[in-house]
Amino acid sequence: MRSIFLLGVLAAALTTSAAAQGADGKAIYDANCKKCHHDDGKPVAGIKKMNPKIEEFSAAFFAKHADAEMLKAVKEGKDKMKPFGEKLKADEIDAVLKYIKATFK
Ligand code: HEC
Repeated sequence: MRSIFLLGVLAAALTTSAAAQGADGKAIYDANCKKCHHDDGKPVAGIKKMNPKIEEFSAAFFAKHADAEMLKAVKEGKDKMKPFGEKLKADEIDAVLKYIKATFK
C-alpha cells in the first residue's frame, strides 16, 4: 500500500514539473521570430536594411537591454517589429525571451 501511495506522489510531482516547464521557447521562436531575427540571432539581411536598428542577439546585447525592456518591445512592438501581446500568452513571451538569452551568447 505504502509504495503505491509513493508512486502516486511521484507521478503527481512529475506531472507538475512538466506543466511548470510550460511553453517551448524554441518552437515559439521558430514560428514567430526567426524570419527577422534568424536561426542564429543575427538579423536577416533584408530586415536589417529596412530597419538598421535591429541588432544581433548576443551577451553584449542582453547586457544592454533589460528583461523588462525586451518584454515590453515584444509585447507592445517596436518600430518594424509588430506587437506579440495578442498573439502570444505571457508565459510564451517569457519562454521565448529565456530561449534567446540562453541560446545566443
Ligand atoms: C518583422 C520582423 C520581426 C519579427 C517577426 C520579430 N522581430 Fe524582434 N525586432 C525586429 C526589429 C526591426 C527590432 C529592432 C527594433 C528597434 O530597436 O528599433 C527588433 C527588436 C527586438 C528585440 C530588442 C528589443 C529592445 O529591447 O530594444 C527583442 C528582444 C526582440 N526583437 C525579440 C523578438 C522576439 C522574441 C520575436 C518573436 C516573438 C521577434 N522579436 C519577432 C524585428 C522583428
